[in-house]
Amino acid sequence: MEKNLDFRSDTVTLPTPEMRTAIAEAKLGDDVYGEDPTVNELERLAADMLGKEAGLFVTSGTQGNAVSVLAQTSRGDEILLEANSHIYLNEVGGLAVIGSLMPKPIPGNLGWITPEDIRGALRPKNIHYPESTLLCIENTHNTAGGIPLTVEQLKADWDVAQELGLGVHLDGARIFNAAVALKVNVKELSQYADTVQLCLSKGLAAPVGSVVVGTQDLITKARKYRKMLGGGMRQAGVIAAPGIIALTQMVNRLAKDHVNARLLADGLQKLGIKILNHVRTNMVFIDFADLGWNDADWLAACRQLGWKTRARGTGTRLCLHYGIESDDIHTFLDGLSRIVAS
Ligand SMILES: Cc1ncc(COP(=O)(O)O)c(C=O)c1O
Repeated sequence: MEKNLDFRSDTVTLPTPEMRTAIAEAKLGDDVYGEDPTVNELERLAADMLGKEAGLFVTSGTQGNAVSVLAQTSRGDEILLEANSHIYLNEVGGLAVIGSLMPKPIPGNLGWITPEDIRGALRPKNIHYPESTLLCIENTHNTAGGIPLTVEQLKADWDVAQELGLGVHLDGARIFNAAVALKVNVKELSQYADTVQLCLSKGLAAPVGSVVVGTQDLITKARKYRKMLGGGMRQAGVIAAPGIIALTQMVNRLAKDHVNARLLADGLQKLGIKILNHVRTNMVFIDFADLGWNDADWLAACRQLGWKTRARGTGTRLCLHYGIESDDIHTFLDGLSRIVAS
């Protein structure tokens, strides 16, 4: 395994040797004609794993969220989403630009919007108001600290969405981290959404892409939006092939990242660094102010130890992923303790 000493994100993962072989040997065709056997296999596999009728291979998580949201809404609708969700904060306002949609951000509790808050946010039918048509959920919730939302939380939101006539889209960029952390079959989580976007290119280590899964009807719509957005790819089997390896070989190893995150958090805490999140999956949020450090100090220490990281003010998010082993964490902590002591 190639070492990848980089805390910035799990998007930095490099493909496994099996993925590189699969890329070279992939059977190919023109996917816009539906003729790339490798893309078709990936889409079928993802749909089956998440218990949905159909799948769609997309270029990125952002594109997957965009086509899912577009497939479930009409121009001018209002969509409900968590105030710190990736779709709201980090997708370039695409829902407003591409979908002409009104976002209604709702502050969550550790990433979860409660049924009461959904009810409270929904506008009544009235000639003055836009139609509220969609609820977006994120699992794991990134900015809340990589928090896995539980089956019960998802069901509670789904039930209220059904009652209120809202569709549900799940941004499951890290849905397998959630399933592994909660020790549930991923279907138990995906059953409470009409569309799910899952990323292949984060902890699962594929180099490119996401899959959107849902009903055949929604996926047909999403496919057309993907084409509109320039995501109709041709011999895309070369990038779908590592995605198949991601889903068949890389899911269970996510548990290692979660153990390593805990190991890192415990070690940093012992050095006097504050842990800001509940460490449940592969993310550790830290504040190093108590060491008297600012971002430049943290960056310099990590650079000295051979790690890439980022920081702003007195804190940062550290991500664990394929390419980082527990030995690397021990070595990092030993080195950091020497720097702190000096
Ligand atoms: C929760 C979440 N959703 C969606 C995305 C977007 O994925 P991509 O970077 O592939 O567009 C990310 C990326 O980090 C994410 O963390």
